Amino acid sequence: MKKMSSNAIRDKGVEELQKNEAKQELKALSNEIIYHNKQYYTLSEPQITDHEYDILRKRNSDIEIRFPELKMKNSPSEIVGAIPSSSFKRVPHSSPMLSLGNAFSSNDMEEFIERVQKFLNLSTKEKVTLIGEPKIDGLSASLTYRKGVLSVAATRGDGEVGEDITQNILTIPDVPKKLLGENLPEILELRGEVYMGISDFQLLNHERINSGQKPFVNPRNAASGGLRQLDPGVTAQRKLHFFAYASGSDLARPAKTYKEFLGLLVNWGLKVNPISRQCQSVSDAEEFHNYIMNLRSSLEYEIDGVVYKVNNIRWQERLGASGREPRWAIAWKFPAEQSVTKLKSISIQVGRTGALTPVAELESISVGGVTVSRASLHNEDEIARKDLREGDFVLVQRAGDVIPQVVHVIKEKRHEDSEPFKFPMTCPECQSNTFRAEGEAVRRCTGGLKCPAQAIEWIKHFVSRGALDIEGLGEKQIKAFWDSGRLKRPSDIFMLEKVDGESATSISDHEGWGEKSATKLFDSINKSRKVSLERFLYALGIRHVGQATARLLAQQYLDLNSLKKAVYSARYYKGPSWDELSNIDGIGDVVAEAIVSFFNNDQNIKELDFILQEVKIQRLEVLEKKSPLSGKTLVFTGALEKMSRAEAKSIAESLSAKVVGTISKNTDYLVAGTGSGSKLRKASEIGIKVLSEEEWISIISSKEGS
Ligand code: IVH
Repeated sequence: MKKMSSNAIRDKGVEELQKNEAKQELKALSNEIIYHNKQYYTLSEPQITDHEYDILRKRNSDIEIRFPELKMKNSPSEIVGAIPSSSFKRVPHSSPMLSLGNAFSSNDMEEFIERVQKFLNLSTKEKVTLIGEPKIDGLSASLTYRKGVLSVAATRGDGEVGEDITQNILTIPDVPKKLLGENLPEILELRGEVYMGISDFQLLNHERINSGQKPFVNPRNAASGGLRQLDPGVTAQRKLHFFAYASGSDLARPAKTYKEFLGLLVNWGLKVNPISRQCQSVSDAEEFHNYIMNLRSSLEYEIDGVVYKVNNIRWQERLGASGREPRWAIAWKFPAEQSVTKLKSISIQVGRTGALTPVAELESISVGGVTVSRASLHNEDEIARKDLREGDFVLVQRAGDVIPQVVHVIKEKRHEDSEPFKFPMTCPECQSNTFRAEGEAVRRCTGGLKCPAQAIEWIKHFVSRGALDIEGLGEKQIKAFWDSGRLKRPSDIFMLEKVDGESATSISDHEGWGEKSATKLFDSINKSRKVSLERFLYALGIRHVGQATARLLAQQYLDLNSLKKAVYSARYYKGPSWDELSNIDGIGDVVAEAIVSFFNNDQNIKELDFILQEVKIQRLEVLEKKSPLSGKTLVFTGALEKMSRAEAKSIAESLSAKVVGTISKNTDYLVAGTGSGSKLRKASEIGIKVLSEEEWISIISSKEGS
């Protein structure tokens, strides 16, 4: 069923709407968008085209711009990032992407082996060799290599049809664009897992929390969000990884055993998980399972079990699948990791943007081999919803193994005089008032730079790697300078050397500073006085403005003055400057609002001016290129020897080039195979660059442009 309202209001243009009509329409649009989100993202059964969906969202935000006061609390325009504004191309899988059946005990494993033997008509004495390997908690992807060149990569989607994420997959260093070696199969469809390492996940979340964004719940969600970015540059920053583990094309498999297959993958330059073991019996499998469970906490990625696969590929083929599950593989899952402990107290952390985050201080306990003593409680509503009280006993769980979570209170163990937790109404760090905006879950301190927590976090962010990259100023040093009054705001960094007219030695009175380390610090500070616009914008620590958004802003405005001017004109959240800002692909209304409000805050502007007396921002001159062909228009003519025209076109498109049929002055390249005639003549006449097949191949096989 298509759920599109077709009433009279829908037929009116946004500028014709009366206020009451606009209100009604926002409600209707919100319901529809939420409905279609679910159809598309959760059920994978879209009911309307991507274009129709984009139109609904655009109308919703246009009405919100005209009537900002009508914007609903849970407006769909608030959903940033999770849902791309226009979606990816659909890619049908050549064979379905399966899921796995589960085993929870060695008994289940016995039964699995018996099923295999029965299906293959083997005697119960015949050994079924299994290969065990960790079950990575990421998301599966399918990569198609044609003649050894990656032509398409897709998400799993509903198992039959996925989304085209080729550009994004290419940012993952583990994924070669070209396979190594000779005798490569014509077409190789590979399956594997995209995942994010635990330390990269923690760093990313740290950054998100600091810029006022919601942290990801687990590395899998972070990886998934990273893959489904419209801007591959954002994907690249997520530092994703890939392990290959299966072939999607079941015909003419180039290996006899799975083990051999893994060897082939490695020779072709792909990454496979180095941890795997051949198991000849259930007891072997059990031993490996225990071994992996012990290893689990030391791995750099999350796993949730061990996958066992029948080693014999001919058998795999015969076994096939029943429903969604292969008969030749099974996942032996780990038990859930939960423990009960005491919630000693609830403390409040203040972040860079003033967000007050409650943290559960727990009596230390081991949860699945990892000691847990703190857990984030997210916000005040969460505490109320779970009715968490200091002194309670709580069930703690390692969600996706990384951030410990408080699942619920053990009410039976509650002390009778316990009292509901009172969330502080003033900042615990600076006693300023706190403020909770309508529709937001987060309470914020209003102290700004007066609040030590906010100032220190800002300074930490300001000097961090992706920002001004000042070495030698860690949290400890910043706090010490703060205490002595020398470093109260980012601009003070540039005064450290000059204080009281003294020299570099002036800070060596501080504990831990010698003349050498001080000189090094000042060198690093002085080096940071020249900085690119994008780094500078990131350093400002504006809510929602991470490195990718900072880059988008730099590319749009090129210099700080133009940006400041534009943002000033956008201060009423409407008009052409506002439209320009909020329509940048990758920046929505929420992010735009944060930017506008940052640059329209007097305290921020004052600090910005101080910083600008010390720092020179480089104008962004050269726009980054995503691939040597991105944005180019190509024409093919004649016969290519190494590939069909269709394939050449698909490769060109996968590199963001446009392929057209006729030469015009807008053509960038003519790729001329053998037997080129009139097109070649025309190209030479109007001076279009002509590429030979060799040159074409060398362009498409060259590494991504920088
Ligand atoms: S083999 C025919 N091997 O687990 C199925 N899957 O719950 C091919 N997974 O969708 C899958 N690590 O995303 C296989 N070493 C591994 C895996 C693995 C993680 C995922 C995969 C699959 C899901 C099933």
